[in-house]
Amino acid sequence: IVQLKFYQCINLNSELSIPFPTAFSTPQNASFNSILQSTAQNLRCLDPSIPKPLLIFTPLTEKHVQAAVICAKELNNIHLRVRSGGHDYECLSYISKTIEPFIIVDLSKLRSISVDIQDNSAWVQAGATLGELYYTISQKSKMRGFPAGVCPSVGLGGYITGGGYGALMRRYGLAADNAIDAHIVDAEGRVLDRESMGEDLFWAIRGGGGGSFGIILSWKVRLVPVPETVTVFTVPKTLQQNGTKLLYKWLHIADKLDEDLFLRAIVQVAEKRIKTSYNALFLGKTERLIQIMEESFPELGITKQDCIQMSWIESVLYIGDFPPKTPPEVLLQAKPLFRSYFKAKSDFVREPIPETGIEGLWKRLTEEDASPLVIFNPYGGRMSEISESEIPFPHRKGVICKIQYLTSWNSTDEPDAEAKHLDWIRRLYDYMGPYVSNFPREAYVNYRDLDLGMNEKGTSSFTQATLWGTKYFKNDNFNRLVRVKTKVDPHNFFRHEQSIPVLPLMN
Ligand code: FDA
Repeated sequence: IVQLKFYQCINLNSELSIPFPTAFSTPQNASFNSILQSTAQNLRCLDPSIPKPLLIFTPLTEKHVQAAVICAKELNNIHLRVRSGGHDYECLSYISKTIEPFIIVDLSKLRSISVDIQDNSAWVQAGATLGELYYTISQKSKMRGFPAGVCPSVGLGGYITGGGYGALMRRYGLAADNAIDAHIVDAEGRVLDRESMGEDLFWAIRGGGGGSFGIILSWKVRLVPVPETVTVFTVPKTLQQNGTKLLYKWLHIADKLDEDLFLRAIVQVAEKRIKTSYNALFLGKTERLIQIMEESFPELGITKQDCIQMSWIESVLYIGDFPPKTPPEVLLQAKPLFRSYFKAKSDFVREPIPETGIEGLWKRLTEEDASPLVIFNPYGGRMSEISESEIPFPHRKGVICKIQYLTSWNSTDEPDAEAKHLDWIRRLYDYMGPYVSNFPREAYVNYRDLDLGMNEKGTSSFTQATLWGTKYFKNDNFNRLVRVKTKVDPHNFFRHEQSIPVLPLMN
């Protein structure tokens, strides 16, 4: 009944009425599971025991999205989850463990991109992926790019709401630092742009996390210059090849390197052996890169043979780990390279980790049966020039690197597999505590981690939310986010397990 009423209401409130099967799917429909699973990145959340939506609504126009908010309110504020690319680490765009019943608004059909090279900008709808944006820009100019993520299947809708980093961040900052306008449906069901939403709300949606302030329909982003030729390399180093000392040295120089160089350290474990590798994108040619490496990190021993020159769009595929010679058109398929059961956590490092600390990390990594992965992502450069309060993302000056810890497994053969892997990563996180930022222990909101705390059953408590809010945004930004939320959505229409709370007096 609710589904039918929602359907009728959408058609009443849209210019273009839609036949039910085109855009609506209920658990009774044969297509329901395949639509639910279509962009779901974390297989951990598709377990049959996890509550499913009453309905998946796939709007065909922006007006339909507006209608979804109006109709959800008319139907007694039925709960909405908004999905753009489906990459949320805790799956908050397509499952709801705490608020039921709920409807998914899946923006996958809203993915148009319009690039204006003269204006140095692009309008991109929320359902488009990073890869589609990169490809479209490269078709218009070889000398423009956009500073966004390393995984091209991520959706623009969720990505920019959490900040959004990638291989150009040391030169140009985050994607959210380069968002210059947006269209959003607010809690009143109005469509607003930057001017009509005001600077407070525009500030909040660029890094304050998805699902709290409204539904982003599209972003206007600033394009950035990229050289015709960039250089990449990936160099593996085992522990026998001085792996520990190299990472120790990297922690001393990663944030101080020339800002045209993004050099990350990736740690994997194969057959209980630690494998480190250094993966770089340099905005320039090989000769200058080698000179920089010799001056700043000679221990890595980079030579001309390690370096590959290519165009920026080819480097997107290289950094995204596509096989060599993959044509850039693959970016239009918007498909992830892998999907698995996974759990991840993040940390920010402000003092180099001592060698003993790194050795303890190796030990813990070899204790995990699945495929653990640790990525050290360098900061500095442009990231440290932007103030902590410019947008809600506060991890700026003084950060050497972000660490992502991830463990993934491929099946649930073992009955207690998930519990075992979660327990391992939580112990690893406890171990790393003394070596990373503290008061607050910073975390990246786009690597959502429900271990940091959760709103209970559809309510929100300011005190409780400070637990994760101060980690993701630091105190001042979190308080400002709460003030904006209280102003624009006082009845907490847009909410989820870690949404920004409304101030108690207004609740
Ligand atoms: P999804 O649709 O799951 O949404 C994420 C959150 O935003 C949910 O709360 C959702 O409700 C909300 N939301 C979605 N669309 C919205 C809209 N239109 N308006 C308002 N709220 C909306 N990050 C990074 O910075 N750099 C990187 O390189 C990568 N790489 C990467 C690889 C892989 C394999 C994964 C799984 C994730 C990443 N990420 C990342 C993290 C990624 O940025 C983060 O998960 C984003 O929130 C994903 O955005 P999606 O739209 O894909 O997610």
